[in-house]
Amino acid sequence: MSIIKTAVFPVGGLGTRFLPATKAMPKEMLPIVDTPLIQFVVEEARSCGIERLVFVTGRQKHAIENHFDHMYELEANLEAKGKTEFVHLVRQHLGEPGEILFTRQMRPAGLGHAVWCARHVVQNDPFAVLLADDFIDAEPGCLAQMVKAFEAKPGNYLAAMEVEREHVNRYGIAEPVAGQDLGTQAVRIQGLVEKPKPEEAPSRLAVIGRYVLTPDVMKRLHKLAPGAGGEIQLTDAIAAEIPNCPTYAFHFEGQRFDCGSKIGFVQATAHMSAKRGLA
Ligand code: UTP
Repeated sequence: MSIIKTAVFPVGGLGTRFLPATKAMPKEMLPIVDTPLIQFVVEEARSCGIERLVFVTGRQKHAIENHFDHMYELEANLEAKGKTEFVHLVRQHLGEPGEILFTRQMRPAGLGHAVWCARHVVQNDPFAVLLADDFIDAEPGCLAQMVKAFEAKPGNYLAAMEVEREHVNRYGIAEPVAGQDLGTQAVRIQGLVEKPKPEEAPSRLAVIGRYVLTPDVMKRLHKLAPGAGGEIQLTDAIAAEIPNCPTYAFHFEGQRFDCGSKIGFVQATAHMSAKRGLA
């Protein structure tokens, strides 16, 4: 059994970069070949023993709720036609009743704000955060790798990868503690800067959308003022906790695609098409 029992899925963003596709459909329902982005991260969380899945939603996100529920008419129709393989396909990701909880963010005030909206479910336990638009092809899953590291050595863990210096202004960037081997899997960090200018970035180690966090980060979010872009930033709450809690940038094994961007989404689609041998 995993120590991490709750995963938070912030899905309250506007998905502006995918308009008009995301006008009436959540970005998290965009499919990689035939499977919505959100289903990949839910399966990643379940594969490491997480029991409670909290979706922090917003307006126009009903398709996500519906995706994780029975669709009786469709299932009856498929059954009547003997298409049992498809019946299995539309049911396999549903999970146990009551396992998935939904809360509304009410206004898209930032990733930190979205995570804070899940505080009554998380309570005083460590928890995971997964962003569906960071698609990671990894075996074992990226979160499972992080949970294993957390269980061996507790702290706040942020999935991280090296990016080109000209791209640092798209990410939260880690400031590693000096004098350690930066090639190690869990790099201890002493600071985090949200979307720095390339010339001001403390490293090229970018934080991406998987986190294993202590409940004190949630308490920090409670008191936090808006940061970069006028939004409540998750990285600001984690940075504020660094003096109190060992914090690590975690080099995961696997291939990551930024499916919040069009090119990343297309690359993920090409990658998974090739992997599945689609002609
Ligand atoms: P993004 O920065 O990608 O924002 O959020 P976005 O609104 O989804 O997309 P663009 O930039 O307008 O195209 C990163 C993650 O944080 C969630 C998003 O749903 C996404 O998973 N998020 C962001 C929230 O849940 N609420 C927010 O207020 C902001």
